[in-house]
Amino acid sequence: MLKNNIMAAQHSPFDLNQFLATRTAAVNAALNQFLPSEKTKPATLHKAMRYSLFAGGKRMRPAVLLAAAAACGGQAADAMPLACAVECIHTYSLIHDDLPAMDNDDFRRGKPTNHKIFGEGIAVLAGDALLTQAFEIAGQAKGWPRYSHRDLVLEIARASGSLQLVGGQVADLEGENKKLSLNELRYIHERKTSALLCCTVRLGGMSANCTPGQLQALTAFGSNIGLAFQVIDDILDVTQTSEQLGKTAGKDVAVQKATYPAIVGVEKSRKIATQLTNKAFAALKIFKGKAVALEALAEYLLKRDK
Ligand code: IPE
Ligand code: IPE
Ligand code: MG
Ligand code: MG
Ligand code: MG
Repeated sequence: MLKNNIMAAQHSPFDLNQFLATRTAAVNAALNQFLPSEKTKPATLHKAMRYSLFAGGKRMRPAVLLAAAAACGGQAADAMPLACAVECIHTYSLIHDDLPAMDNDDFRRGKPTNHKIFGEGIAVLAGDALLTQAFEIAGQAKGWPRYSHRDLVLEIARASGSLQLVGGQVADLEGENKKLSLNELRYIHERKTSALLCCTVRLGGMSANCTPGQLQALTAFGSNIGLAFQVIDDILDVTQTSEQLGKTAGKDVAVQKATYPAIVGVEKSRKIATQLTNKAFAALKIFKGKAVALEALAEYLLKRDK
């Protein structure tokens, strides 16, 4: 648990750096296999999809999914298609989020945004294709006694659709230049960011044929780290440089986005992120020490500087 806003040092033998390095390499290799090659027609589209997918994202969602699978005794190979599917949806959401009609950003993952390189039309279509690719990849998962392909499709579609991710992005756009309440801001964050992260954690459990009790615990963990993730993203926008983030810092203030720092200030925002992470930790109790990777990731996500 986190005490007084400061993470109590937990010197577990778990090596998160090694976990992240090995999982990221495995996810990149799997994505490379799943995606059509750059030369496959239409080559511009496949180039654009690969450009953003392999631009150097942190791969936090695949890591969290694989960690959730491990907590439930699952195998990384069984979870891998779902980890790749979620990263495709996340990357599509970033390509569209950066478009001039949305956040109008020039940099992402340390490189010019997709539309800056390929033009807006191809960027829209690369996003569309990555979203669809996610379902094609998830369809290649093996399916489990408790969770069928139908369950997987519903899980991913609901988290990504008009009631969650896309709905949150709509509320985010409509919230620009408005003074929102904390509740209204939470509504946005729950949808635009937390829903997919929660889905990610749940898919990890499902890929290990987890019990209903485990799935419930993972849901609580995922929704809380999902909310904390966006609070931290909002904080980093006002505290870090563009070089550090690989995307333009200070953008939220410039366009008067509704963010936690804008509404409650940076210090209170940090406290809220810590409280959310504590709630996430509490949800992991039922794993009785088997969720070390998830615990380490939750701590890392709270303390991250990019
Ligand atoms: C950025 O996500 C968008 C949010 C949902 C806050 P990440 O910070 O995970 O971005 P990448 O994948 O590392 O580029
Ligand atoms: C992005 O939120 C959420 C989604 C892409 C769904 P932000 O707009 O805050 O993300 P960044 O700061 O551009 O990465
Ligand atoms: Mg946005
Ligand atoms: Mg943005
Ligand atoms: Mg942001």
